[in-house]
Amino acid sequence: MEELKEWERIAAHSHIKGLGLEGLKAKKIADGMVGQEEAREAAGIVVKLIKEGKFAGRAVLIAGPPGSGKTAIATAIAKELGKDTPFVPLTASEIFSTQLKKTEFLTQVLRKAIGARIHEMRKIYEGEVKEISIEKAQHPYNPYQQIPVGASIKIATKDESKKLTMDQSFAIQLVQQGIETGDVIQIDVDGGRIVKLGKSKQAATEKKVDLTTEEIIEVPTGKVLKEKEFVYSVTLHSLDVAISKQRGETDLFGLFFGGRETKEIDMEIRKEVDEQIKALTQEGRCELLPGVLYVDECSTLDIESIAFINRAIESELAPIVIFATNRGITTIRGTDTKSYFGLPIDLLDRLLIITTRPYSKDEIKEILKIRAKEEKIEIGEEVLSYLSELGEKTSLRYVIQLLAPASVISTERGAKKIEIKDIEKAKQLFLDTKRAAEGVEKYQMLK
Ligand SMILES: Nc1ncnc2c1ncn2[C@@H]1O[C@H](COP(=O)(O)OP(=O)(O)OP(=O)(O)O)[C@@H](O)[C@H]1O
Ligand SMILES: [Mg+2]
Repeated sequence: MEELKEWERIAAHSHIKGLGLEGLKAKKIADGMVGQEEAREAAGIVVKLIKEGKFAGRAVLIAGPPGSGKTAIATAIAKELGKDTPFVPLTASEIFSTQLKKTEFLTQVLRKAIGARIHEMRKIYEGEVKEISIEKAQHPYNPYQQIPVGASIKIATKDESKKLTMDQSFAIQLVQQGIETGDVIQIDVDGGRIVKLGKSKQAATEKKVDLTTEEIIEVPTGKVLKEKEFVYSVTLHSLDVAISKQRGETDLFGLFFGGRETKEIDMEIRKEVDEQIKALTQEGRCELLPGVLYVDECSTLDIESIAFINRAIESELAPIVIFATNRGITTIRGTDTKSYFGLPIDLLDRLLIITTRPYSKDEIKEILKIRAKEEKIEIGEEVLSYLSELGEKTSLRYVIQLLAPASVISTERGAKKIEIKDIEKAKQLFLDTKRAAEGVEKYQMLK
């Protein structure tokens, strides 16, 4: 569910590949971005500051009318920061709908937004199994059962072969995975893991193995024992979860109901993770990747959550927080005070504010063109003009959303391209906000 929600949120912006800048200057149309040049250029400077490490203790607010590309720009910032940099979108109201304490929920999302790229050199034995013998002994409690207690195998590359003796945990894995001669395997000594890569070509022909279930691979060359570098990206939150699982703090609720976010994580575990990451960073084996926590509808945040985030921004390991709102002056939730964007002064003070403006008809047309291409929908010039005019009167998001149903309607007719009549049909079935609300009011009047 959680993944699905995140995917849906990102899907609307899948056409956005970056900010579309050349140096610090915005190109009219680039990287899936259209117009909104000033906001994009401002965002470009933010990206530069972040990359140069000059952004600590600050945050960004993107303010502008609905559908003016606030989320699109935040997504583009994340893209510019790089592929391993986490981007965590959050709608302020989610804070109130979770079963977790607000501060725990916020800590988790903040830590989801900090990535770490870890480099690990691992000793790996790699080769084709030439001989294998499993040493067995009687089970300590069950006299009728034999259990593996050790193993010795001979594995070979094209150039070398080696005999290895293994302890019980490896022997068990050999038996469990049904490893036999002719298999190409990897043994990760430090990780205590055996991975079966497939069957060697030669063994496959000799043993006439079932090609549908076995992967046929080349026998590796070089030495049997190799050092290989593994690079993987994690987030601080995923490390927190992994360690707390390791400690055997089984989350019974999560086990039965599949909820992943219902569990509180011990602060001690987080401290430990931070220390480990810092140590690895000092050894040059880890790079920290502060990502983006995007807080949409930030005007609905309450004063406690704001205070918490405000403090978090100052801490040593903090992600970049980007707030967005389409409200002007409004009451700060949890107080009687009115303020700009519903945010208190101490937070406003540390914000770099970027504003977005409504789009012109031509800009709407260009965005529609890009979206149609992204959704693999054929659409002619005439229909595009019609839609962009409609978009100017209703909203950009409304006309983007009409694309999919109109495409279904035209396909149903057996047509290859959307025509104006398909749009009209879709428009009739799916109302824009204004028409929908007027309709409801009419019936209310009748009552
Ligand atoms: N300048 C742009 N270039 C390309 N696509 C854009 C641009 N601006 C907006 N879009 C696309 O238009 C749609 C609506 O924009 P978006 O969701 O970013 O608006 P928003 O300002 O976040 O609105 P809201 O206040 O309702 O959250 C999205 O699919 C977005 O990717
Ligand atoms: Mg938005």
